[in-house]
Amino acid sequence: LQTDGGFSDITELPPVHSEVLEDEEPIRAWLRASPGGVGVSIASGGDNVFHLALDGLGKIYGVDISPAQIALCRLKSTALMAFSESEIASLMGIYGPATEGCAALLGKVLEATGLGFASEGALAFAEANGLLRIGAFEQMVAAVREQIHEAVGEDTVRLLIAEPDPGRRRGLWEQHSVTDGLTPIFRTFFDEEVLAGIFTPKRFQPILACSPFADHLLRVVTSLVLDGDPGQNYYLHRWALGGYLPAGPVPPYLDPANLPALREAMPRIEWVVSELAGFLAQLPTGEVNCFNLSNVLDWCDDEYACLTWQEITRVAAPGARLFARTFLYDRPHQEHAQKLGWFRDPAAEGSCLAKERVGYYPGYELWSRASD
Ligand SMILES: C[S@@+](CC[C@H](N)C(=O)[O-])C[C@H]1O[C@@H](n2cnc3c(N)ncnc32)[C@H](O)[C@@H]1O
Repeated sequence: LQTDGGFSDITELPPVHSEVLEDEEPIRAWLRASPGGVGVSIASGGDNVFHLALDGLGKIYGVDISPAQIALCRLKSTALMAFSESEIASLMGIYGPATEGCAALLGKVLEATGLGFASEGALAFAEANGLLRIGAFEQMVAAVREQIHEAVGEDTVRLLIAEPDPGRRRGLWEQHSVTDGLTPIFRTFFDEEVLAGIFTPKRFQPILACSPFADHLLRVVTSLVLDGDPGQNYYLHRWALGGYLPAGPVPPYLDPANLPALREAMPRIEWVVSELAGFLAQLPTGEVNCFNLSNVLDWCDDEYACLTWQEITRVAAPGARLFARTFLYDRPHQEHAQKLGWFRDPAAEGSCLAKERVGYYPGYELWSRASD
């Protein structure tokens, strides 16, 4: 059985993902987390675990195979519990690279959790940039962002995001030849050879749902800017500008208005370092109401994905729901899940794709189980 060794090898801070950067809205809408329910979510940067906790689950397990991801989640939870709104903004670097107080705040949170960075250099980087910027994936995105700013101008990017009128946005896009500027950058950085081992394991490249991936991504970004609501799309701000906009929208768990509710919910979160199937095997039968799998099944071979579905089915409560994203087309575990009594909802999947605010995943899997 094979999960990808890549993530479990990452044992010390910094992690790969310092923010999840997957649209949270469809996850919450599909899972309908109800107060008192039990949830299991892949942790990654923690964002969706915090969001599901905000929805009132009685217990939420944030599970990740990578100790570095769980260490980051612990740092974030500790900071969200202990610090003021402005201190949280500074430590995380919500609006841009860290402000002066960041190093001292990071020192406090490392001391409180007993966690540390793998090297002095990694610590210095975190102090200078904030926790939301320390992930290896974020650093790849930062390199792409720099190239984009050079090619089309950071001012143009800001104008496009701020312009509320779709007709004027299209005019700006054409006037600054944005498609021509972005195409070579996307084709270089998002080439499937470059992304092998970052978005999916190399062995699954032949079954990528959208190929060439760079062209898919450019279509998505173009549509998010021209047809979407870029002024309100905080994911776009984060990808294109490197930070959220001061006075603009932020992910719910970073929104000061949600801080009291998040603090109240925090004791209901349990962070766990484990691969998913092994963790589920330890849970009692029939207890879990909702599962957020991100795209972990993209990282599992067919046999292991089927085994994971068996454990999911054993621990699922009647009427349980499961959310997953994927870069790949049809895989055997999907038929296996149907045989185990799970149903997909293609109409809901289509409507999620239409409303998606990030969009680099070409596929949704929205599953539910009969209520018995
Ligand atoms: C699947 S990746 C998806 C990346 C996503 N775009 C994000 O930003 O979070 C998310 C997380 O899944 C974790 N992961 C991968 N395979 C896993 C497994 N079998 N069990 C538990 N966690 C796993 C990785 O360590 C990573 O932190």
